[in-house]
Amino acid sequence: MKLFIDTANLDEIGAAAKLGVIHGVTTNPTLISRERGDFAAIIREITSLVDGPVFAEVLAEDADGMVREGLELAAIHENVCVKIPMTPAGLEAISRLSKEGVKTACTLVFSAAQALLAANAGARYVAPFVGRADDIGWDGIEALSAIADVLSDGDFDTEVIAASVRSPLHVVEAARAGADIATVPPKVLAQMASHPLTDAGLERFRRDWALKKD
Ligand code: G3P
Repeated sequence: MKLFIDTANLDEIGAAAKLGVIHGVTTNPTLISRERGDFAAIIREITSLVDGPVFAEVLAEDADGMVREGLELAAIHENVCVKIPMTPAGLEAISRLSKEGVKTACTLVFSAAQALLAANAGARYVAPFVGRADDIGWDGIEALSAIADVLSDGDFDTEVIAASVRSPLHVVEAARAGADIATVPPKVLAQMASHPLTDAGLERFRRDWALKKD
């Protein structure tokens, strides 16, 4: 399973890109709202930091507006993937943009039924929000597993990107449930790398080396 980073912060993206472990970037209106500067300029800068898909979300709620914004976003860079919410207008926009050759990601997906609609509309990615489902007592990983299952018949080249990831365990469970990608907040990426036994082992190596016989 590939990893993307879930942030619009250029410093966080740059730091993660240096590790060599991320293959794309996802943003959303909330993440963009936390950053200074023009939306398009932020997305353009992100495309210069990571050589992979950069997800940028439309704000319009009508299909015509989504298509208009989606074409503008796609024109920023060939790696831009247009994020569109799972609504009837969103499905129409995904269908129209896909016919124009624009890569789309259907976001705020919570069920296999929604994912099937998005794939049939031509979405390149579907993004089930695992954490937000868990937040209200639904099983986010179970929903993701059902989505991966119904999209596994090869009828569409739609990839499942686990979103709203809250912990390293979410990442591992998403991989085991069949996600193609997990988009991971910087905090969770750091948590994935650390383990107390790794730290203890390194400390022991240092201590033993200091006692090395001449
Ligand atoms: O990209 C989707 C993701 O950012 C949403 O995560 O933590 O706001 O539910 P969260």
